[in-house]
Amino acid sequence: MSLRMNPPLFLYDASQLLTLAGLPAPRRGSGLGELGLIEDGAVLTQGQRILGVGKTRRLVKEARSLHARFIDCSGCVMMPGFVDSHTHLLFAGSRVDDFVLRVGGKSCPEIAAAGGGIRYSARLLRRASPAHLVRQATGFLRGMAEHGTTTVEVKSGYGLDVKNELKILEAVQEIKKLSELELVPTLLAAHALPPAFQNRPAHFVERIIRDLVPHVARRKLAEFIDCFCERGAFTAQQCRRVLEAGAQFGLRPRIHAEQLSHFGGTKVAVDLEVASADHLDHVTPAEIRALSRSNVAATLVPGSNFFLGLNRYAPARRLIDAGAIVALATDFNPGTCPCLNMQFILSLASFALGMTPAESIAASTLNAAYALRRDDRLGSIEPGKQADLAVMDVDDYRKIAYYFALNHCVLTVKRGRVIYEKSSESRSPG
Ligand code: NIG
Ligand code: FE
Repeated sequence: MSLRMNPPLFLYDASQLLTLAGLPAPRRGSGLGELGLIEDGAVLTQGQRILGVGKTRRLVKEARSLHARFIDCSGCVMMPGFVDSHTHLLFAGSRVDDFVLRVGGKSCPEIAAAGGGIRYSARLLRRASPAHLVRQATGFLRGMAEHGTTTVEVKSGYGLDVKNELKILEAVQEIKKLSELELVPTLLAAHALPPAFQNRPAHFVERIIRDLVPHVARRKLAEFIDCFCERGAFTAQQCRRVLEAGAQFGLRPRIHAEQLSHFGGTKVAVDLEVASADHLDHVTPAEIRALSRSNVAATLVPGSNFFLGLNRYAPARRLIDAGAIVALATDFNPGTCPCLNMQFILSLASFALGMTPAESIAASTLNAAYALRRDDRLGSIEPGKQADLAVMDVDDYRKIAYYFALNHCVLTVKRGRVIYEKSSESRSPG
């Protein structure tokens, strides 16, 4: 992108500018909630990067001399764009039928037995054209941008065979050309057992390792490799096999661990020093200690617990207080979290995880960037970093979580370009 396409921006007079600067990433313990807050703050961008950060009056002159576009942020909070570090964005259709069955009292196994669940999504995906996948995902990404998200991890996982997993990852390449957001693709081939391998999970794992991993790595279709370590999905041993094979081909491991039961994924995560262990609802005290001594991000996704009506949530307080690297993400997917709004995840993090608004903002920006190993470039507002910003129509950052289930975002900047701007007439009174 040329500088000509990206004129300098001067976002000024923000009631609160949350820089997240000061302490380096990843944030642990009491350092998590340090927001680096500047009152009456401003950000000056040049090209794709941040040139200046500070009090408005300190930067005005430089902004004028660069002929920057002036954007009034008075009465607003300016913060780094959200990094949604765990999504299953690429699916076909929906699972609204499952949703209604569950509301009517059916359990997940009953819904799966009735033809729902991940395998239902896989059937829809096989029938879907690449154009449908691209169109649906692009629409969701638009929604994410409107809610202040600027970077999105995207998993495969509804293919359940080589051809359809590739169809998903190839669609991601197409979407990358169309969307202004930054997409980070992950190969999640070990998500569910396809019917053809019902009693032969080890064979399916070997098939993934032999036919999919080298191909995906060679064509650079994914950056990470993930697996679902859970009863009825894949054992810790099988996940270890898949992740080690991925790592040999340069795919960085991450894992779905201890989501619905304690099943051993966290031990694999720590042993292999994966980038992130996600969910962690059933993690044990010893595993919390092991995580806190490691560099593995603990990515919590309370939206899925909420949607499934579960009483149990990940022990966020114990993880933070022990010194683990806590990040937050949506887990956006058709079965367990059809919510793409990171602001709502902040509210849930307070209601259900006991995280302060400050902690949840750091967990969904700087620590989430760390979970994707992009904290050198994303997740905080500092000179030299990428200009990825969200402006929220509240004068106090704590109100983002407090006025819950609203969209406070009025402006989103990605790589120094305004990609979403709410018209001023439709803004709420503050
Ligand atoms: O993260 N845990 C596995 N995968 C998803 C659910 C996917 C689905 O139900 O379609 C999750 O919750
Ligand atoms: Fe997930």
